[in-house]
Amino acid sequence: MFASHHIAMRSTAEPPSLVTQAHQQRPHSHANGIRAHTVLLVILPTISLSLIVALLLILVLIYRPRSSSNRAEKLAGNAYVPKNLSAPSVTSSPGDVRKCGYIARPPSKFRGGGQVFTYRELELATDKFSEENVIGNGGFGVVYRGVLTDGTQAAIKRLNRDGKQGDRDFRVEVDLLSRLQSPYLVQLIGYCADANHRILVFELMSNGNLREHLNSNGQEGSPAYLDWGTRLRIALDGAKGLEYLHEKSTPVIHRDFKTTNILLDHDYRGKISDFGLAKFGSQKPNGLVSTRVLGTTGYVAPEYAMTGKLTTKSDVYSFGVVLLELITGRVPVDMKRPADESVLVSWALPKLTNREKVQEMVDPVLEGQYSYKELIQIAAIAAMCVQSEADYRPLMTDVVQSLIPLVKQKASALIATTPKLGHQIVTLKSSSIDSESSGTNSPHF
Ligand SMILES: Nc1ncnc2c1ncn2[C@@H]1O[C@H](COP(=O)(O)OP(=O)(O)OP(=O)(O)O)[C@@H](O)[C@H]1O
Ligand SMILES: [Mg+2]
Repeated sequence: MFASHHIAMRSTAEPPSLVTQAHQQRPHSHANGIRAHTVLLVILPTISLSLIVALLLILVLIYRPRSSSNRAEKLAGNAYVPKNLSAPSVTSSPGDVRKCGYIARPPSKFRGGGQVFTYRELELATDKFSEENVIGNGGFGVVYRGVLTDGTQAAIKRLNRDGKQGDRDFRVEVDLLSRLQSPYLVQLIGYCADANHRILVFELMSNGNLREHLNSNGQEGSPAYLDWGTRLRIALDGAKGLEYLHEKSTPVIHRDFKTTNILLDHDYRGKISDFGLAKFGSQKPNGLVSTRVLGTTGYVAPEYAMTGKLTTKSDVYSFGVVLLELITGRVPVDMKRPADESVLVSWALPKLTNREKVQEMVDPVLEGQYSYKELIQIAAIAAMCVQSEADYRPLMTDVVQSLIPLVKQKASALIATTPKLGHQIVTLKSSSIDSESSGTNSPHF
């Protein structure tokens, strides 16, 4: 548009100057001069007009394909998902990117949105989705380890294609994750959606999920135990992830915050994953959203389970359950335990505020690693988060603020072997966390 405006200005200005120049350069007779002048007056504007038209045509030809590919890149960069994922408009071979229903191939480097992959590319990355590359199996599909063509290690999640719910989850996850950017959320690298597949490609979190480590028996080959300091820091990472979601102008409610959805990177830093169930909350403070009750048993807040009324405080409850798991090492519901111990919250709640009994509930492997004062403080935070009255639960921002002074140690985690038990245990190298801040965009320290 700018170019054509520029050309239009030149078209009115150039002919007279050309005429003047031509007239000055030819010393002819008066009659000849008039004839030549007339001829020049007719021919030169015609020539310059044709030149301008030709120029315009060239410019149009140059700019047209570039602007449409820019649009395609932008759409892909924003992880745009076509409304009707199940009916892609173009059909071709399985490896063809167009079959995914997208306009053009996106830029090869991930730019904070979502790269579009072909099924063939992901087959290649996972050695044809081989059993050996399976790293997880959840309710929505199987997760494979893969290596992308540029060498990036990735977790490739192939979703079960059962009905509309799967499609909804896929779309929500792609759409939300491409808009959210936080070091406390597992990053979406890209996706593939063709007639037969829904596949999500995530950054690979090399130490798997938090639950595996809490379940571990600590023997060689099984996931390492996490020490007290590491557990607190993971709690803070999770709290910051939820804080980021809740403090957005339109809050995002995760709805499925749990230990299998907290993944650990090479340094045992926690990040939240699985946004398939996430929902936009109300913009009003403590605003309610009515919805079907979805989530995982043992983590769902009582008011949400009973009425379907969802607020950010439902996530705060789930966070409290995760905190209890970190302190006790137990799972939220364990039917193998005696009836009065099978539901973690019911068993732990009376102990959390009882100074004599609070120590009884701590995971035995943590013995000697925490101070009594720290335990009382963390127990008080957990008690506030899991209380049945949603309004009295703290905001995640408050939780973050309370956890920061407790996370005294930072820096990369170390795997050491406990001299007493011979178990693998993750400990923290000591250094100060004075620079720690709770800003939603604060980097990982
Ligand atoms: N980005 C990732 N990096 C490393 N491992 C991952 C990644 N994403 C998922 N996993 C592994 O795959 C497992 C299965 O993930 P998935 O989200 O499908 O199910 P889940 O969270 O275990 O349970 P649910 O089906 O209730 O969500 C995870 O528990 C985790 O161990
Ligand atoms: Mg999960």
